[in-house]
Amino acid sequence: MSGSRIVALGHYQPPKVLSNDDLEALVDTNDEWIRSRVGVRTRHIAEGETLVDLATEAAQKALAKSGRTADEIDLIVVATCTAIERSPNTAAAVAARLGVRAPAAYDINTVCSGFSYALATADHAIRAGAARRALVIGAERMSDTLDWTDRTTCVIFGDGAGAAVVEAQEDGAEPGIGPVVWGSEPEKGDAVVITGWDPVISQQGQSVFRWATTQLAPLARRACEQAGIDPSELKGFVPHQANLRIIDSIAAKLGLTDAVVARDVVDSGNTSAASIPLAFSKLVERGELSPGDPVLLFGFGGGLAYAGQVVRCP
Ligand code: UT7
Repeated sequence: MSGSRIVALGHYQPPKVLSNDDLEALVDTNDEWIRSRVGVRTRHIAEGETLVDLATEAAQKALAKSGRTADEIDLIVVATCTAIERSPNTAAAVAARLGVRAPAAYDINTVCSGFSYALATADHAIRAGAARRALVIGAERMSDTLDWTDRTTCVIFGDGAGAAVVEAQEDGAEPGIGPVVWGSEPEKGDAVVITGWDPVISQQGQSVFRWATTQLAPLARRACEQAGIDPSELKGFVPHQANLRIIDSIAAKLGLTDAVVARDVVDSGNTSAASIPLAFSKLVERGELSPGDPVLLFGFGGGLAYAGQVVRCP
């Protein structure tokens, strides 16, 4: 098989927006600290909507843009670290909502790098002939994991979802999804934890920051090498949206000057596994990237896990 390509993207964010001023009323923080240390101005917070609602909305939009119908999907992969239900999993629940018949449906949890892992497994399944057309979704209700009295976390995260329709390519076509570079440093796993029956997120912010700004650029560069392209040829860079300073540091280390760099963390906060498809979908919708453009996706975070690949823009 020639592999697979992304044919359409979609995203969804719940309507409620929390500003930095709103958070000043809850904890001892201020707009200047949040913008200068993290880069966030606003984040969306789900109120009545479940994780499955968010994922389904994003998937419906991607499906509508692809011109395909639910009948034509045979694989659904959802990347999330905020699923509450153990069974049915999120992917099966989304399949039921969309009316997808008999799909392979599974969830992946590699926290903030989840979307790139999910995209890779969908690509691998298509290459192996085990699927023809997939919905790959990143969806999170990070607000479920927040302690609204903890200023070190509640100002950072948000809720949302993004989705991609991925399908097999004709033999001989240039692959639309490049080889994945993935891995983890499990001995550093305690740096981001979401544990317990009523899980609350906590992180060793400075350790993760140091790891992200010193270890990841060579791995992102390797994803470009494996796709046979130089970083200078990238038209877009969509890293996990954890912190504007991390995004700008990795972009600078890759020597990106002309590429469009996703900075959706400003409007959406850190939405974990949803952040890459959410930011990518917005760039495409706004016309900042064009069909065929090479775009580097790179996820990183809890685990500490990472994954990235060069894809062709739908
Ligand atoms: O997506 C999962 C992967 N996670 C990441 O990639 C996170 C990476 N790390 C980061 O993005 C940053 O480390 C944070 C945004 C989490 C924190 O920024 P920082 O510049 O590393 O701040 P810090 O933790 O070193 O804290 C500096 C000061 C402390 O006060 P003292 O001890 O210097 O008096 C904190 O108590 O800032 C204080 N602080 C705050 N002040 C106002 C912490 N949170 C806040 C806040 N408002 N919300």
